Amino acid sequence: ALLDIRPKPLAGRKIIVTSGPTHEPIDPVRYIANRSSGKQGHAIAAALARLGADVHLVSGPVGIADPAEVTTLHVETANEMKDAVEQLLPADAAVFVAAVADWRSETSAGEKIKKVAGEGPPALQMIENPDILAGVGHHKKRPSLLVGFAAETQDLVRNAEAKLAKKGADFIVANDVSHEGGVMGGDRNRVRIVSKAGVEEWPEMSKDEVATRLAALIAERLKTITV
Ligand code: CTP
Ligand code: CA
Repeated sequence: ALLDIRPKPLAGRKIIVTSGPTHEPIDPVRYIANRSSGKQGHAIAAALARLGADVHLVSGPVGIADPAEVTTLHVETANEMKDAVEQLLPADAAVFVAAVADWRSETSAGEKIKKVAGEGPPALQMIENPDILAGVGHHKKRPSLLVGFAAETQDLVRNAEAKLAKKGADFIVANDVSHEGGVMGGDRNRVRIVSKAGVEEWPEMSKDEVATRLAALIAERLKTITV
């Protein structure tokens, strides 16, 4: 076979990717989480690495293997994910695919909370987690290219456009996660790429194909940005 000696388009570029859910503890045996397999985020990390990028994947708890040729950091909570991401700055680009839990229990009990007859369920006091994407979008070390995801069950494009503006991202990959969409945990995905330039609709394809196309788009955009 012929050896491909063309330089890889993302060689020399450092890219941060978040993937998977976060787990927010209630006590040593219980947690609050989002549904996320990590498949799409891990596939994006792998696709960026195939284009030569120095990829740092910050992964919540998932049941899939670390991607090849990627530096993977494992975290549990949103706060741990935020700290890991900020430690990794500066970077040329960041892609935030993780389904971060929006809220956590304000306190995590040191011991397992027991059912007590007649007392009923414990009242959990919830507090909001930090928004990692918005924090990086407004950070002094903001990467020159910032990509977020938006999981929606309704008003997909309108919600994605609002997130683009509020979080300071360059692209939002908008994802229909309504029951009809059937994306969660599956191997296929249908996304729209929302940016200031408008909305680009991609046909339904595998999560690996979405990853390959998104990595190519990122390479194309970074080409116009000098190191
Ligand atoms: N995100 C994040 N940190 C959070 C919440 C979300 O970094 N605490 C990122 C996600 O990784 C994703 C984007 O923000 O790239 C949008 O996440 P999403 O849950 O769709 O948006 P929210 O702003 O949390 O709004 P809501 O869940 O109410 O739709
Ligand atoms: Ca959310």
